[in-house]
Order: sequence, then structure tokens, then C-alpha cells
Amino acid sequence: MRNYYIAGNWKMNMTASEARDFAEDLVEELKNASVKLMIAPPYTALESVSSIVRGTNILLGAQNMCNKESGAYTGEVSPDMLLDLDVSVVILGHSERRIIYGETDELINEKIKLALDKGLEIVFCIGETLEERESDKVEQVVRTQVTKGLDGIPESNLDKITIAYEPVWAIGTGKTATPDDANQVHAFTRSLVSDLYSDEAAQQMVIQYGGSVKPDNVRELMSQKDIDGALVGGAALKIDSFRAIALFSK
Ligand code: 13P
Repeated sequence: MRNYYIAGNWKMNMTASEARDFAEDLVEELKNASVKLMIAPPYTALESVSSIVRGTNILLGAQNMCNKESGAYTGEVSPDMLLDLDVSVVILGHSERRIIYGETDELINEKIKLALDKGLEIVFCIGETLEERESDKVEQVVRTQVTKGLDGIPESNLDKITIAYEPVWAIGTGKTATPDDANQVHAFTRSLVSDLYSDEAAQQMVIQYGGSVKPDNVRELMSQKDIDGALVGGAALKIDSFRAIALFSK
């Protein structure tokens, strides 16, 4: 019932011309993929990548977005600016935004609501730090992030939202949550969606895993009952590794 969804978050990597060349390779190599695909280049490469992926099976995503529509917000990018470049997905609540740039659950909730108003799809990131895991706070952290992030969002909008569980200690570290550990948090997240909305909404919610996903661990992760895809960082920057992840089921 749920389709696998594999996304590449390029973070602060690639100039516009590097991104265009890479996107051309991706379009060619992934044209027969059976999963849902998205790539999120940095803002400065969105325009060049947009012209390459238009009309293909790869969706264009942005890595962040302002919580306001326009005005005096130096350095920010509005949803209309993204839509103008044919961006259809926005990643919100990434731990690097939360931790390095101080984004709160309330701000992320405002961004999600504005993105929904504008018709954008959302990849909504959640996940605990190592300290929180070691002090047994995983469920508490995930509950707070999900409850506050989705506050005031009606069930009819949930088909536009994908949740990405990214344990912070697994991001860029080479440490992956064991498939079983990850699946437990995914199942817990799904139960939260059921409590907040309905069992049907929970069953339909696509929940990606992120944190050192690589060609050699993707299959085992994806074989878990509640893991429906991946949000890939480092391994999304090389054609061989992203191809192997996107085509994991082939
Ligand atoms: P890595 O795959 O590099 O661990 O990054 C994961 C991530 O943060 C994707 O958003």
C-alpha cells in the first residue's frame, strides 16, 4: 500500500554547474526506478537542476524554506520562489536546522503549515541526539517533535507529508541504527500518527529512515515493516551509491 520513497539531501554541496551534470546522470541512470524519487540540491542549484529533472520521474526538493511569504527576511527563501522553480517538495525540520540554526518545533510547524497552504509536499524530519538516546528519551523526543510539528494540521493534508526519522547520532557518522532499532522508532512514530489522527492515516504515512544509509545497508533497512524509504545524505552525492540505493529492490 505504501510506496518506497528514496530522497537525496545534498546539503551544502555542489555548485550549480556540478549539480546540473550530476542531475543529468541521475535522470539517465534512474529512469527505470520503481520507487518514488526526490533530490534536494542547495538553493543556488535549484534552477539548473529544475530544467534537467522536469518531466522525469525525479521530484525536485528544497532543503528548507522561510515561514513567511515575503518581506524583510534577509537571507531567506519563500515558498513562491521555490514553486517558481518547479520545486514540489521541501525538507523541513532537519536536525542540522534544529541544532545548528536553532529552529524550534513551533517554527517548523509554521513552515509546514505555510508549505501545505502553498501546495508543496513536505519531508518532515525528526530524531533524537545521542545524549537523548542514552538517557532513554527517544520516545519522549519523537512524541514532542511529531505532536508539535503536526499541530493544527488536518488529516486531509497528511498525504502531502512524509516523516523522516533521522537519529542525529547516525547522520554523517557512518553509524547506522540497526534495522531493528530504527523500525522500533518507526513503529512508535506510526502509533503516534494513529493516536493523533486515525489508524488509516497511520497506515498510509510514509516514514523514511535517514542516517548513514548506504548501498550495503539499504536492503536490510527497507525490509523492515515500518521503514518505507530513505533520506540519504553523503551517499546521495555519488552516482554509484545513489543509484544502488534507489534501485535497491532490483
Ligand atoms: P547521511 O546519509 O550523510 O548520514 O545524512 C543523512 C541526512 O541527514 C539526510 O538528511
